[in-house]
Amino acid sequence: MSEPIIKVKCLAYVRVAAPDLSKAEAFLDEFGLQVAARTEDAIYLRGSEPVSHCYVLSRGTPGVTAIAFEADSEADLEKIAAIDGASAIEKLDEPAGGQVVRLRDPQGMQVEIVHGQAALAPLEGAPSHAFNVDGRRERLGELPRFGPGPSHVRRIGHLVLESADPSEVYRWYNERLGLRKVDGMVLENGHTQMIFACLDRGQEYVDHHVVGFQFAVDEGSRVQHIAFEVGNMDDLMAGHDHLKKKGRKNVWGIGRHRFGGQIFDYWANPWGVIHEHWTDTDLVNEDTAANDNNVAELEDYWGPAPSLAFIVSRWNWKTVKNLAMLGRARAQAMRKS
Ligand SMILES: [Fe+2]
Repeated sequence: MSEPIIKVKCLAYVRVAAPDLSKAEAFLDEFGLQVAARTEDAIYLRGSEPVSHCYVLSRGTPGVTAIAFEADSEADLEKIAAIDGASAIEKLDEPAGGQVVRLRDPQGMQVEIVHGQAALAPLEGAPSHAFNVDGRRERLGELPRFGPGPSHVRRIGHLVLESADPSEVYRWYNERLGLRKVDGMVLENGHTQMIFACLDRGQEYVDHHVVGFQFAVDEGSRVQHIAFEVGNMDDLMAGHDHLKKKGRKNVWGIGRHRFGGQIFDYWANPWGVIHEHWTDTDLVNEDTAANDNNVAELEDYWGPAPSLAFIVSRWNWKTVKNLAMLGRARAQAMRKS
């Protein structure tokens, strides 16, 4: 297998558009992101980790308009800028500065590779405490310190790209940015339903996935959800209650994923763009082999089934056809297992 052009360091941020910035900001405030900077055109939001921002909100048709990865060096930006269709290295005229190369993936998503953005000091994260579980007594005379309010988002962790051909889109990211398959889901008809890919940082342990490449039941293409790490289990639960009290729409959760192992909780913003809270991911490194899995193994460890609002972004005749196909494949696999 040939080496990728570069191996990106991390997912840096997403650009998200909404027709009403104050409504969008109110949701993000309740979700637990904090404003790092404002300009005439955009609001830059962050978690508690010491980076500049992980979310750029601007006015427009609702949805994720660009995804950005950080490169290790300017030399890596030069390698990306040499790809057919990529921009030259440009200065980012934004509060965190830095440099960017822009290109489009096969599903038409704008991908930004950035380097040299100024980091901010860390913010206080979620309160934490010891647990008296599994027969251990470690919280002695200490009360949990949780109060009501939003979860404490730490950072952006991953996103899922939906398209009609997730294998082709995965290949693009694999060859150019070094994302590496950890788990795949192939149906009996040979159709790829999902590929989970992680960063390739050698021996360093990284999240089980930084991008999921998923078959879109309407065969359209989009970022299906964006996902943010929160402090811990209590922090996720407190944030769940807070969003519920504010009347926000929960589209899936709370549960624990089979692939990735995270405890998850998914919420839709006022325009249906799905934002995930998660905590406690599986960690992998270069020694973790890639697996192809039976569709029946998709079953999560625990938690409810996803809502239709999570599975379907748009209804058309392909949505109906593909939901029926996936339903049949799942029933078949379940019968065999
Ligand atoms: Fe996720």
